[in-house]
Amino acid sequence: MKLKALLAIVLSLGLAGGALAAGGEGSLEAKHPKKVDWSWEGPFGHFDRQQLQRGYLVYKEVCAACHSMSLLSFRNLSQPGGPEFTEAQMKAIAASYKIKALDEKGEEVERPGIPADRFPLAYANERAARAANNNAYPVDLSVITKARHDGSNYVYTLITGYSEQPPAGVTLLPGLYYNEYFPNHQIAMPAPLTADDQVTYAPDAGNPKATKDQMAKDVVAFLSWAAEPKMEERKQLGVKVLIFLVLLSVLLYVAYRRLWRDVDH
Ligand code: HEC
Repeated sequence: MKLKALLAIVLSLGLAGGALAAGGEGSLEAKHPKKVDWSWEGPFGHFDRQQLQRGYLVYKEVCAACHSMSLLSFRNLSQPGGPEFTEAQMKAIAASYKIKALDEKGEEVERPGIPADRFPLAYANERAARAANNNAYPVDLSVITKARHDGSNYVYTLITGYSEQPPAGVTLLPGLYYNEYFPNHQIAMPAPLTADDQVTYAPDAGNPKATKDQMAKDVVAFLSWAAEPKMEERKQLGVKVLIFLVLLSVLLYVAYRRLWRDVDH
């Protein structure tokens, strides 16, 4: 009898634990991101230059209003393995930004950007950023896809994962939006991509239509590159090393056969 009672307790504890771990109905844990087939995954992965250029545009026209990318310099935009804007395009992009600097009298002035400048901050400081965003902080996006688990999928799913209405019984706190892919399902960032053609893609260059989904994928490509600008170089080196090892093995085998050819068994 005692044993039975003990077994029942153990069993119900186990069941309760299982239900908690599975995140039952009311769980506020962030849902797992959707999986996307990104071109840069796998040992031969590489970025699509056009996509990176479009992604830059989405970042600049949408995300940069709130998020900085302070580790990125304008010159990175024309380096191999990235969006590979031409030198002239990159200089024009840099010059289109206003950068704070000091003049010879030490007074703060604004001047056009040069290739060596970093991307400017979205807000003067953290307090200003929070004041404008319901006290939440729009993090720097320079390395966001590395800083979060399954980063590229996470960012893609988060920015496309808003629900217009929270489910019945859920009350949103003031200034927050419903998004199941964020912890607690309430986020202070309004859905950033709300309409197709929110960003204008040059129609001639073989660009796809700027649907919400396409813009989200493009900006994630750009962020994934920015988080690891040398990824293509690293993967290409890996492939070369593997080819070298295969050739070396063949060579060693042939040498081994030759050396032992005349030895009697
Ligand atoms: C109106 C301002 C605003 C815009 C525009 C905006 N964001 Fe945000 N974003 C925020 C704020 C504020 C947060 C913090 C949310 C929170 O903590 O509740 C945030 C959070 C995020 C996060 C989650 C960071 C984390 O800690 O996991 C990601 C990723 C993100 N934004 C990406 C983007 C991308 C990509 C774009 C452009 C397509 C964008 N955001 C546009 C304000 C903005």
